[in-house]
Amino acid sequence: MLSDRRSFLEKIAGAGALSLVPGASALAGTASADEKNHFVVGPYLQNLGPDAVTIMWITHKNSFSWVEYGAGTYTSKREFGYNNGLIEANNRINRITLTGLTPGTAHKYRIVSTEVLGYKGSKVEFGDTLTSPMYDLKTPAAGEEECRLVVLNDLHDRPQTIPKLLYSLGYTGNRRDFDFVVFNGDCFDWVSSESQMVDHLLKPAVDIFATELPFILTQGNHECRGSFSRHIPSYYAYPEEKYYYAFTRGPVRFVVLDSGEDKTDDSVEYGGLSAFDRYRLIQKKWLEKEVESPEFKKAAFRVVLIHISPYHSGDWHGTMHCREVFGPVLNRAKIDLQISGHTHRYASHDPDDSHNYPILIGGGPLEGKRTLIKVHATPKLLDVKMIRDDGEVVGKYALSKKART
Ligand SMILES: [Fe+2]
Repeated sequence: MLSDRRSFLEKIAGAGALSLVPGASALAGTASADEKNHFVVGPYLQNLGPDAVTIMWITHKNSFSWVEYGAGTYTSKREFGYNNGLIEANNRINRITLTGLTPGTAHKYRIVSTEVLGYKGSKVEFGDTLTSPMYDLKTPAAGEEECRLVVLNDLHDRPQTIPKLLYSLGYTGNRRDFDFVVFNGDCFDWVSSESQMVDHLLKPAVDIFATELPFILTQGNHECRGSFSRHIPSYYAYPEEKYYYAFTRGPVRFVVLDSGEDKTDDSVEYGGLSAFDRYRLIQKKWLEKEVESPEFKKAAFRVVLIHISPYHSGDWHGTMHCREVFGPVLNRAKIDLQISGHTHRYASHDPDDSHNYPILIGGGPLEGKRTLIKVHATPKLLDVKMIRDDGEVVGKYALSKKART
């Protein structure tokens, strides 16, 4: 991983960043059906917690897959996917959750897939077995005191932005400045195929960090568009299989909301297939419960991730409805920070009459507008910097832990 970063930085110095497209061979398109079975992408981590993690990967052909893993250097354990009493098999998209892990501990793992050639009656016929190299992951300690994350947004089908921002700005010396990565919406213009999602998001993430560290894809309005949009959730693991949820890392309670589409549900572009008003109202009810939960209340810091900011994002319906349904709840809930994207113009907005917490909006997708937002949370300080792709800091907050009543 470090050698990948070194060679990337050397190429930037020698050739100019614009000519770089990482994994260019991977951008050639979908593998053909008669190609031998192989790992299309992965493994990539989702939902890493002190005692559990979900490991995902895609095989080219239908397979029977599992994870071999263990603490330290041992990989004596095996885990499979389970579904209604059946062990998952004859599938391509693998989502296997390891449980009972030891907190704060280094683990090794590898993925294994045996091709399923077909069925003769009820009997399964197996083909060749693929085995990945060994990978490392480390579970966070229970009650970890700090956490670091970076946020990218509005990539809009520009995969080269991922190594550019992470390799150039995501490190201090050789130390990676993040425990997880947030893709805060609009990774694509619209989504038409698995290969687009693999090539423009999953492969760059796996190449740089995702075998070892998890990431989140927050749904933006552009993920709602295109023939493949309804398949996207199958490729990620969310705590409760929803795009809105909350989780704790270190001293921070993160609340992820789905702002949905930017126009009214009856807009002609959506062909009568959108129901975001209803969806945002469902989220509002969930949010009202979340902000009363012990996990939210006891957290030193509360950070909201939402693609379209309910404020400072124009006056289209999506923004205004988010403001109407989420705004009052967030203002009552003593939020410390909200991180958004969508406008393509980076900006930081101090608390004002409409929102009583600071808002950072990351920029993109063009060179000179792209930003990496870096968050470092310690028990008493939430330190946030928004850095433009040329290294200039264009927004920052150092937020002290609030006195909670
Ligand atoms: Fe957007």
